Amino acid sequence: MTGHVIVTDHGPIRILRLNRPDKKNALTDAMYETLSEALENAAVSKAIRCMVIAGGPAAFTAGADVQDFLHAAQHMEGLRPQAMRFLHRIAHAGKPLVAAVQGVAVGIGTTLLLHCDYVVAAVDARFSAPFVNLGLVPEAGSSLLMPRLMGPRRAFELLVMGHPFDADEAKALGLVNAVVPADEVEPEAMKAARQIAALPAEAVAASRRLIRGSTAEIVRRIDEESEIFKQRLKSVEAKAAFEAFLRRKG
Ligand code: COA
Repeated sequence: MTGHVIVTDHGPIRILRLNRPDKKNALTDAMYETLSEALENAAVSKAIRCMVIAGGPAAFTAGADVQDFLHAAQHMEGLRPQAMRFLHRIAHAGKPLVAAVQGVAVGIGTTLLLHCDYVVAAVDARFSAPFVNLGLVPEAGSSLLMPRLMGPRRAFELLVMGHPFDADEAKALGLVNAVVPADEVEPEAMKAARQIAALPAEAVAASRRLIRGSTAEIVRRIDEESEIFKQRLKSVEAKAAFEAFLRRKG
C-alpha cells in the first residue's frame, strides 16, 4: 500500500481508494503497482467477493500522470511496465469490480470503467478520453470495448475527437449503471457490492466470464494499442502536448 492508494477490506468487499487529491488522483507507477497487487491477490482470495474502486469528491482520476508520459517520451520508452501490469490485471480481474465515480474521470479514468462490472456516478461526474488531443491513441483495450459498447461512431466521437461527457450521457451510452447525488455515490456503490458479494460466488464468476467474452482478445488489443502508444509517445505532437499541459500555469 502507498499513501496514494488505500486498500481496505470490509468483510467480503475490498475497497481500492485513489488518494492523491492534490494531483486529481493522477496515476503514478507506485499507484499502478498497488492497484495491481490488490487485484492480483483478490483474484485468488476466497474471502474477497467484490471490489470497489473509488476516488475522491473532486476526482475519480485525471488519468495517467502526464509527467510520466513526458519522461517516457524523453527516454524513448512506451507505456510503463507498471501501467501495463495494471491493464493486464484489470482485464483479467478475477472478482467483480464496482466503480464509484465523482468529479473528473480522464483518460484511463474513463477507459478503466469499460472493465468494471457496475458503475455508479455522481450527477456532477465528468468523463473524457483526450488521447488524440495529446497526440496519443486510446489504451486499456478501449479501442475494442468502447465501439463494442456504443458503436463505432460514438466511440470515435469520444476516443478520437475527445468530446467530454457528463454522467447522464455516460448512462445513456451504457458506461454507467446509476447516476446519483455526489454524497450517495459511495453508499450506492457499497450497496451494489454487498448485493454482488451475497450471490453464489462460482455462478457470479462463470456469468462474468460469459458476459465479458474473451480475455485473450482484450489483452491482445491492450498489447497492440500499447505498441502504437509507444510510437506516439515519441512523436513531436505528443511531446508538445505534454509540455503545454505542464507549462500551462507557468
Ligand atoms: N498528470 C499530472 N498532473 C496532473 C494531472 C495528470 N494527469 N492531472 C492533474 N494534474 C495536476 C495538475 O498539474 C495540478 O498540479 P499543480 O497544482 O501542482 O499545478 C493539480 O493536479 C490540479 O490540477 P488542475 O489542472 O489545477 O485542476 P483543474 O480542476 O483545473 O483541472 C483536469 C482538472 C483533470 C481537467 C486537468 O488537471 C487536466 O486536464 N489534467 C490532465 C488530464 C490528462 O490529460 N490526463 C491524461 C489523459 S491520457
